[in-house]
Amino acid sequence: MLKDAIKQRHSRRSYLHQPLRDEDVSFLKTRIHEYNQRYGLHMKLVCGHPEIFKGFRNSYGMFHNVENFIMMMGNYRDVYMQEKLGYFGERLVLEAVGRNMGTCWVGGTFAKAALAPYVKEGEQLYCVIAVGYTADKKSMKEVLISRATRRKGKTIEEMSNYTPKCPDWMKSGMEAVQLAPSALFRQPVKFQRENDCVYAEVSHPETHEMLDLGIAMLHFEIGADAGSWTWGNPAVFQKK
Ligand SMILES: Cc1cc2nc3c(=O)[nH]c(=O)nc-3n(C[C@H](O)[C@H](O)[C@H](O)COP(=O)(O)O)c2cc1C
Repeated sequence: MLKDAIKQRHSRRSYLHQPLRDEDVSFLKTRIHEYNQRYGLHMKLVCGHPEIFKGFRNSYGMFHNVENFIMMMGNYRDVYMQEKLGYFGERLVLEAVGRNMGTCWVGGTFAKAALAPYVKEGEQLYCVIAVGYTADKKSMKEVLISRATRRKGKTIEEMSNYTPKCPDWMKSGMEAVQLAPSALFRQPVKFQRENDCVYAEVSHPETHEMLDLGIAMLHFEIGADAGSWTWGNPAVFQKK
């Protein structure tokens, strides 16, 4: 269940030197194909390309053995492309976690230029998601990097207009948002509830914040149990 995956997920930066099993490749490719077709995205699973993350210049020594990743691309004229990629990319992340794979969204620390041949005309490569098998326990180096990148998170009140008088679904939605990944763990999305609607918005849509918005929207929806979003900034959630 995606709710369990939200609790299990942490960014993983050190991977085992082990190719993805055929059934996991086939699962990810099927999901990617479905989301691409239905929502006009261009996500692509690339397996066995360790050079993209190798060398200090490419990853500042933060990543180890990244051999597989999902490229997050789309039409740059679509103003909501990053929001959609955030939402469906995080769905893939949670589905991969549910199958015991480790993941990490990566916005900058990889050799972007080497991936240019995969990017179609009129599209942009926004980021990648590293994916692979990991040791059950993090190495000391991975623990230190995680601590450095994931400082104390924001409270629900800092991220929304939640008060104890709000319905339970608002609280459980925001608790799921607290566990969402975000670039530099800035947690930039603000949520405002008005009756059965929730507005989610970021202040700097020209940065990675639109990806963070899509990711946080998915977490909120899963935590709140039932409802649906309309793309935008603000995006609008209608509780069912
Ligand atoms: C859009 C986006 C870009 C990210 N880029 C990087 C990156 O370049 N390097 C990195 O080590 N982590 C990156 N992260 C992972 C965040 O640092 C991580 O999600 C955050 O510290 C919270 O930790 P957690 O994912 O373990 O909960 C990125 C996350 C997101 C959502």
